[in-house]
Amino acid sequence: MSTIKVAILGFGTVGEGVYKTIQSHQEKLKGVLGKSVEVAAVLVKNKHKKRDINEGILVTEDFEEILNLKELDVVVEAIVGENPAFSYLEKAIQKGCHIITANKEMFALHGTTLQKLADEHQVSVGFEATVAGGVPVIQTVQQLLNINQIIKMEGILNGTSNYILTEMRANQVSFSEALEAAQVKGYAEADPTNDVEGYDAFYKLMILSEIAFGEKPDWSNVPREGITEITPEQIKEAEKLGLRFKLIASIEQSQGEIKGYVRPTLVSESHPLYHIEGVENSVSIEADIVGRITLQGPGAGMLPTTSAVIEDLIHVVLGNGQQAIFSGVPSGLLKQDEKQQQKWLIMNKNGVLLTSSSSAQKESHVLVKADEPTIHTLRDDNKQASFFQVLGEMKSNLFVRNDSA
Ligand code: NAP
Ligand code: HSE
Repeated sequence: MSTIKVAILGFGTVGEGVYKTIQSHQEKLKGVLGKSVEVAAVLVKNKHKKRDINEGILVTEDFEEILNLKELDVVVEAIVGENPAFSYLEKAIQKGCHIITANKEMFALHGTTLQKLADEHQVSVGFEATVAGGVPVIQTVQQLLNINQIIKMEGILNGTSNYILTEMRANQVSFSEALEAAQVKGYAEADPTNDVEGYDAFYKLMILSEIAFGEKPDWSNVPREGITEITPEQIKEAEKLGLRFKLIASIEQSQGEIKGYVRPTLVSESHPLYHIEGVENSVSIEADIVGRITLQGPGAGMLPTTSAVIEDLIHVVLGNGQQAIFSGVPSGLLKQDEKQQQKWLIMNKNGVLLTSSSSAQKESHVLVKADEPTIHTLRDDNKQASFFQVLGEMKSNLFVRNDSA
């Protein structure tokens, strides 16, 4: 029986998980592929670190040694950041290897280039692990691209920040303690700024935009906020109102324009994202024929991410890899209602509901219902305050002011 030779770049949470799963699921892999899978080499930053890797496997800090291997079929990339990951994968494709990546920062920047290069070299690209950990979002979106048109995707795409927000609310854990726990559990990025400032969710959103709409919006036009400014007082105050903070990423296409954002949002119990807790992610995909599909599952960590990589391994080797990155769907079928009313809660840092308004006469209000331009004006007029959009119905009988009347 012949063998599929794999190189793993990176031996951290993801790389080690892939290595161990290839060993533990060898029989199953053989059954599906008709071939055994062998890890031929592992690339790391520091080869002197003690690791549980079988003798005979090349462990190196030099990618050229991997490129020089006589036989190599698949390169799995699980290192950190844009480069050298991108250049390694370019070289792997040029050598004729299928590639699989978990690196969303690199893939958000260079996914299109890598896919084109892979097409030229007739190899496949697997990138399921770049978005929402173990949740098969990429496969689902691609499955919908033949006849459906995707209108909007919205959800929780970062496990670390959802874990932190859950711990702060449900267990009164401090932000820094919750972040530390997320790091220990292997959820957080090497630089957790990417998680807590919304960059990680932003990269994932850009990957989703590329596959669903065939293009990304201008990155500078996509507002991105993280969770670092949310105070325990605000979390408590929101809870009293039946609301939970979630870091929401959203992208939609309307009239030829792609609009998206990543920002902390308040979600009420009537909204499905209210119940997404801890490291869980959830993505709701709205398409013109099927309607709304919602996926939910573990968004980070060793085994969920490995699951996405291992399933990609099957797809790339069997030749049914993810080829549909350039969907190029016609834009502008649906008209977004610009005057659509949104609900926003205005608070100060201590969670105290703000007593202020855009009108000359000050009046106390807690929840503003207004269209988007009005919210912009209100924010400009109240720079010291925190504004959070509210998703879902509110049971409370709070005063709702219609500011766009
Ligand atoms: P990690 O635990 O920090 O491990 C990173 C690994 O990459 C380490 O083994 C490190 O080597 C190696 N490495 C880093 N830079 C390198 C370089 N320039 N050359 C060679 N090796 C290098 O990271 P991780 O959590 O496994 O994440 C890996 C990738 O998967 C990231 O892009 C991340 O965004 C993505 N991802 C992670 C998760 C998750 O839940 N953790 C989920 C989905 C996607 P040393 O061991 O020698 O330091
Ligand atoms: N740091 C990422 C998260 C890993 O917490 O969601 C999964 O992409």
